[in-house]
Amino acid sequence: MSYLITGGCGFVGSNMAAYLIRKGETVTVLDNLSRDGAFANLTWLRSLGSFLFVHADTRNPFEMEEAVRQPGLRAVFHLAGQVAMTTSLRSPRRDFEINVLGSINLLEAVRAYAPMLTVVYASSNKVYGNLGFLDLVEGDTRYHPRDVRQGVDESAPLEFHTPYGCSKGAADQYMLDYARGFGLDTVVLRHSTIYGGRQFATFDQGWVGWFCQQAIETMRQPERPPFTISGDGKQVRDLLHVSDAVACYMAAAEHIDAARGHAFNIGGAAENSMSLIELFQFLEARLGIKMNYERLPWRQSDQKYFVADNAKASKLLAWKPQVTKQAGIEATLEWENSKLATPLHF
Ligand SMILES: NC(=O)c1ccc[n+]([C@@H]2O[C@H](COP(=O)([O-])OP(=O)(O)OC[C@H]3O[C@@H](n4cnc5c(N)ncnc54)[C@H](O)[C@@H]3O)[C@@H](O)[C@H]2O)c1
Repeated sequence: MSYLITGGCGFVGSNMAAYLIRKGETVTVLDNLSRDGAFANLTWLRSLGSFLFVHADTRNPFEMEEAVRQPGLRAVFHLAGQVAMTTSLRSPRRDFEINVLGSINLLEAVRAYAPMLTVVYASSNKVYGNLGFLDLVEGDTRYHPRDVRQGVDESAPLEFHTPYGCSKGAADQYMLDYARGFGLDTVVLRHSTIYGGRQFATFDQGWVGWFCQQAIETMRQPERPPFTISGDGKQVRDLLHVSDAVACYMAAAEHIDAARGHAFNIGGAAENSMSLIELFQFLEARLGIKMNYERLPWRQSDQKYFVADNAKASKLLAWKPQVTKQAGIEATLEWENSKLATPLHF
């Protein structure tokens, strides 16, 4: 039995591949190496053990057909994608081609050549638009809903905002429809913030890693110019450590009989939720610094609050997040620090 990981040199994909390689499983990592840091992740994976690397692009249907036609393949973790809302606004067509066409190419290849294969797809909280129905109260450091204690569950109305929301949402719905209409074993996991080591965070995507970078830079150079944030910093996400994400992908594959054709909201849960301001407070106390930032306008359709209700995943996948936000941020700081030519002591 073996596993195929599309986007296997990305942040989540390389963690997924590392987990399987270390377990001695047979792994194929498919990636077009378009993301900054993807080649570094490939080099790191090669230091862990053996696996097959396929330099391919999900937009090419023939390459996807070849990838799924390997004998003994058990599951595909479909993580390749255009991953930032901001870049989708700059190039909606590219976003569409990678996220929608790339996913259709995978589904069609599976339908034609490997219909017994499990496909687990990385979707997004963006399929729920700006969650305008939540009745939010503005506190000193965060927004919180007046009446949703468990977080947002899968009954929230779908509303695709921004090209990225449309492309992730379209692929999400195709995945579910290929289970419904063609009987494929597909599962959809909807995430907001995944964080941890091997992420090459940027201003556009990966906010926890990005602000950990800003904190380390501030420690190195306290007088540096302010960095920027979008919105008022009170927007809340539940932080999902990448090791918990990996465990969830494995659980989805293992529980495919219960999970097929379902979408799951997956996050770190309310106890691991944080606003930007709360992250800054944590980093200031931890590193003895002052985070100096300037505000930019809100990003388009930015949700002021998203905390996943994991109840469905807990019931059908027997999965729950394990890593606390404190431990996860500590690990992220270590990772960001390790990327410096001269790491700091803290
Ligand atoms: N990281 C998060 O917080 C988060 C949140 C919600 C959803 N997701 C979804 O999870 C998945 C993985 O995210 P990530 O953070 O690891 O992203 P990432 O950018 O680190 O990894 C994506 C990988 O896919 C590769 N890739 C891009 N286009 C490709 C193509 N056409 N063909 C082959 N490879 C291609 C890139 O080179 C990269 O290595 C994505 O689909 C993303 O939308 C991530």
